[in-house]
Amino acid sequence: MELPDIFILLLAALLSCLWWKHWSVTGKGPKNLPPGPPGWPLVGNLIQVILQRRPFMYIVRDLRSLYGPIFTMQMGQRTLIIITSADLIHEALIQKGPIFASRPADSPIRLMFSASKCTINSAEYGPLWRTLRRNFVTELINPARVRQCSWIRQWAFDNHLKRLRKEAEDTGSVEVMSNCRFTVCSILICICFGAKILESRVKDIEAVLKDVMMMTTPKLPDFMPVLLPLFRRQLKEAKELRRRQMECLVPLVRSRKAFVQSGGSDSDEIEMVSPIGAAYIDSLLSLEPAGRGKLGEEELVTLCSEVMNAGTDTSATTVEWALLHLVMNQEMQEKLYAEIVGRVGKEGVVMEDDVEKMPYLEALVKETFRKHPPSHFVLSHAATKETELGGYTVPVDASVEFYTAWLTEDPSVWKDPEEFRPERFMDGGDGVDVDVTGSREVRMMPFGVGRRICPAWTLGMLHVYLLLARMVHAFKWVPLPDGLPDPTETFAFTVVMKNPLRAVILPR
Ligand code: HEM
Repeated sequence: MELPDIFILLLAALLSCLWWKHWSVTGKGPKNLPPGPPGWPLVGNLIQVILQRRPFMYIVRDLRSLYGPIFTMQMGQRTLIIITSADLIHEALIQKGPIFASRPADSPIRLMFSASKCTINSAEYGPLWRTLRRNFVTELINPARVRQCSWIRQWAFDNHLKRLRKEAEDTGSVEVMSNCRFTVCSILICICFGAKILESRVKDIEAVLKDVMMMTTPKLPDFMPVLLPLFRRQLKEAKELRRRQMECLVPLVRSRKAFVQSGGSDSDEIEMVSPIGAAYIDSLLSLEPAGRGKLGEEELVTLCSEVMNAGTDTSATTVEWALLHLVMNQEMQEKLYAEIVGRVGKEGVVMEDDVEKMPYLEALVKETFRKHPPSHFVLSHAATKETELGGYTVPVDASVEFYTAWLTEDPSVWKDPEEFRPERFMDGGDGVDVDVTGSREVRMMPFGVGRRICPAWTLGMLHVYLLLARMVHAFKWVPLPDGLPDPTETFAFTVVMKNPLRAVILPR
């Protein structure tokens, strides 16, 4: 080997070392980022995560025990700052609420499904988000509107019970998740469009929405946008799915628009059942957010899809986990049944006012949210300006991920956190004073906390209360003859049962 060759080799080795050091050291350093697992050049921790072949939430759970309350993961081109402790979550989302209230940049696929960030959940913290969120809260969640729409829930729950009866007659048992998804989705379709549509059409919409949720969960090109040209097939599939989504929902948008413009006369085969002004889309038709102008069909479809996406799986998952415990623990189920009968009698119908006066039902639902949060993270946040948290720097272009599942597993916060015990939320229990909105302190946060807290959390709770109360009032839920259900969890947008819960139902 000649001298120049040796020189080039040494130089290459030195540069590789510097490069490796730059990419693998995430703690402190000149950027003062929180510590984190050493990564590989260019890809950071991405390959290590992919090679583990298990949901990201479990990887984070393990890293938390190594790196503590705040750590960094370099996922390809994206820097993730993961926050896991109650104190830091409270500091970021409540004390420094406005600073941590934004959302990170999106991949081209996610931008396609959010009509370039024209949804409440994806919009950056700013005037568009404010307008959309304010409109949502005043038009969809105000108590008068929720009361006005209560007939929709009664209608959907009556159908729900009929469907369960039929499925039990046909197959000997019922599947919880799919039935609850269908029912909640039909309620939200009616709330959005003011329309009652055929079951087959609800099924089509539900299927498209599920595909959209899976398509928009982060994948390789989200972390390595430079590689996007290599993912042409994925991009093509996303465009095809967007086309299907538009095809499914545009007819509803047009029918409702025609209904509103004609002053309330039905014009085609879609039955409009809510008066003008009572459907979410009615408010969107006249909305003109700053910088966006009047909303077009792309935006209208996207904003209504957001409501259906956000409200369906979250509520259905909670009912599935709650029923799992009621099936496994008949004593718990009888206690709930006794509370329901004590309130409405054996023959009565559980109404919305009734569930507010059922403390055991409330405790059971809270314990389900604690033990089985539908998601182990809230949505990704981003800082509006470079800021400091826990002694480290949080850069503006980082995704800030709040790992919230640890809060409810922490034995220094909860007594016997592994145990499922609704009584902990009743008098004398360790959870009796918990505030799920987290303004005082954060002990559980199934709906997020602070500026980006779920704006429909009370509606979500109402759906869960009513579904559970009506299902337990109508039927006794028992395990299948071949054994107890399997409580293994898996990730499918929310954290669901890997083997969906099936149970035998016996009319009461
Ligand atoms: C059990 C039911 C529900 C659960 C557990 C739940 C949970 C959540 C969570 C964790 C977030 C993210 C908070 C954050 O990023 O910090 C969120 C946001 C959101 N949820 Fe819900 N949710 C539920 C029901 C609903 C329903 C029924 C709707 C609509 C009718 C809805 C609409 C939204 C919207 C629009 C956002 C975005 C808020 C923003 O970014 O400002 N959710 N929800």
